[in-house]
Amino acid sequence: MHASTSQLSFLRNVYDLFLGLYTHIGRQHEDLILTIRSDLTKSIPAMLPLLQDEIDHGLPKEFGMSGEWMPIPAYLKMLRLVALVSGRIFVGLPLCREETWINASISYTTDVAAVMHASQKWNSVLRPIVAPFLPEVRKAQADLKHARKCVAPLVDEIMQQYIPEKQEKVKAGSRGAFISWMLKYQPDDQKTAKRVGINQMVLSFVSIHTTSMTITFALLDLASRPEYLEPLRQEIEQVVQEDGMQTDEEGNVHLSKASFQKLVKLDSFIKESQRFNPLNLIGGFRTVLNDFSFSNGLKLPKESVIAFPMWAIYQSTSTETFSPEVNAKAGNPGPETFDGFRFAKLRAVPGFEAKHQLATTSEESLNFGHGPHACPGRFFAVYEIKSLLVNIIRHYDIRLKDGRQPVHIINQVANVPDPRALIEVRRRK
Ligand code: HEM
Repeated sequence: MHASTSQLSFLRNVYDLFLGLYTHIGRQHEDLILTIRSDLTKSIPAMLPLLQDEIDHGLPKEFGMSGEWMPIPAYLKMLRLVALVSGRIFVGLPLCREETWINASISYTTDVAAVMHASQKWNSVLRPIVAPFLPEVRKAQADLKHARKCVAPLVDEIMQQYIPEKQEKVKAGSRGAFISWMLKYQPDDQKTAKRVGINQMVLSFVSIHTTSMTITFALLDLASRPEYLEPLRQEIEQVVQEDGMQTDEEGNVHLSKASFQKLVKLDSFIKESQRFNPLNLIGGFRTVLNDFSFSNGLKLPKESVIAFPMWAIYQSTSTETFSPEVNAKAGNPGPETFDGFRFAKLRAVPGFEAKHQLATTSEESLNFGHGPHACPGRFFAVYEIKSLLVNIIRHYDIRLKDGRQPVHIINQVANVPDPRALIEVRRRK
């Protein structure tokens, strides 16, 4: 039985959790979602050269060029890189490289998380009364205003040049392209600098920390399991040799989308890392809007919050993906074992070729959600994550610092990498 979004609400859950009245998270942002789902996703081939150019610019700054082992705080480095590289697409040069913008796009998520924790200290009756006075709410509002100010000149410029008939032709990744795409989905009375600025911060909230945590976990897994480094490197080098690096009209040397699609082992490694490190141990949170009965008779009262037991599904042999029968066909170990090439082997099983890719969601693959609210940015996220990892694997050696396994921080149901966890990197010759 499928419940409709008017019965089990994603937005209402997010709005309540993050005090959407003040933070704008969980409000209707159809314009933003359509831009991500349609224009951003369609433009991935055109964006790949720019993503890779920004990584070529940013990675040596964050990881250094030394041939000696250097300790780096993995998560903080990934946060900065993802903010920089996403910014190249979301706002373009030169704003994406300005420290104020990088910091603004990183800190809004931390602000909103602080609002959530602060508001949970109050019971739900008092919450709306105290909310506007909470220092965390005030900080989030002040930071949002500051971020809007940073992006305002660009928004004004794009709005002045905006010609509806020409929006299809705006070049992907060009300065302000994302903003002009978004304008075409906004009714005229909502085409305001304020709304566009707020949407940019909502975009930072949904994209930057999620993407950087996912890459950090993959990097930590790679440092902890060095046996994967060579096979992944070989897969990448083989594709580079076969296809060659491409050059776009602006001279950006890059690996094309078709080449990325051949990196089946890399895709699998990241998906297995996600399976072992879901950003929430349970997922698909929904608020029950009215008393609701499931077909098996289970009744839930209005205002209940429900979610899927993601971790339990990923560890269960009663699923299809991790069942003994399918494991035997693919030659995979049971779900309790980390096998970086598990999903690559599954994709080699006849009938399973199209399943089990990193961006594919299903009832057994829930890291990007599933159903009508499944993450619209996941295709973009997947290419951003792979572009970063390909560059890191090709140009750096990676290892644990002093052989120490990094720890996770589990707070209620959230699972995040320890921001203090260090790994060591060394530029390859
Ligand atoms: C690895 C990185 C990412 C992960 C793990 C992730 C995960 C998720 C999850 C779990 C949801 C909720 C789905 C549900 O409950 O059904 C979601 C929603 C969303 N994500 Fe992502 N996401 C990532 C990156 C991104 C990026 C890069 C963007 C934008 C370019 C983005 C935009 C969104 C938006 C707008 C929503 C709300 C969808 C709606 O309201 O229907 N995400 N994401």
